[in-house]
Amino acid sequence: MDKIPLEKAARLIYPRITVLVTTKSKEGKANAAPYSWIAPVSFRPPMLYLGIQHRKTLTIKNIRETKEFVVNIVTKNWAAKAIACEAKIENKVEKSGITLRESKVVKAQSVKEAKIVLECKLHEIIETDKADHFLVIGKIVHAEKDSELKDKEIVMHYSGANFAGSGEKYEVERKK
Ligand SMILES: Cc1cc2nc3c(=O)[nH]c(=O)nc-3n(C[C@H](O)[C@H](O)[C@H](O)COP(=O)(O)O)c2cc1C
Repeated sequence: MDKIPLEKAARLIYPRITVLVTTKSKEGKANAAPYSWIAPVSFRPPMLYLGIQHRKTLTIKNIRETKEFVVNIVTKNWAAKAIACEAKIENKVEKSGITLRESKVVKAQSVKEAKIVLECKLHEIIETDKADHFLVIGKIVHAEKDSELKDKEIVMHYSGANFAGSGEKYEVERKK
C-alpha cells in the first residue's frame, strides 16, 4: 500500500456519480452546475446531501434565495453539455445546449435530457469552518426515472477531466 498525502485523502472516495444541479435565482433566471460530491442521507424522509466548495457559486446563492434545487443525474449522451455548465460565463445554460423543462413540484427547472431527476427543497445548509465544503441537505419532494435507463449510461467522475460509465455489474452475497 502506498501512503497518500492527507490533503489528497478525500479524493480517494471515487468514482462519484456526476449530477447537474439546476436552480433559479429569485428573479427567475435559470442556472446549472455539475457536482459529484453527492450522497443520500435519509430514506424517510428521502434526503440527499451536496458538498459545495466555493462560497460564491450561483448554485449556493440561488438555493439560499429560493430554497429549492433539482439534481439531474448525468448520462453519457449529454455529459459534455452538463460539464460545460462548470464554466463561469454569462448565459452558460443557453450556451451548453441542455434543454430545460418545467419541474413537477419545484420552480427550479429540470433537464429534459436527464433520465433520473430528483426535485428537492432545501432542508439545511451546514456551514462549518472545520470543512471547506458547505453541506447542503435537501429533501426530495419528487423523483422521476426513465424506465429505459441502462445503469452503465450513468457518468461517474473519477478526478479532473476523467469520467467513465458505471462499469461492470456483478452480485455480492449479503447476509442480513
Ligand atoms: C464533474 C464535476 C464535478 C464537480 N463537483 C463539484 C462538487 O461536488 N462540489 C463543488 O463545490 N464543485 C464541484 N464542481 C465545480 C463546480 O461545478 C463549479 O464551481 C461551478 O463553476 C459552479 O457553478 P455556479 O457558480 O453556477 O454554481 C464540479 C465540477 C465538475 C466538472
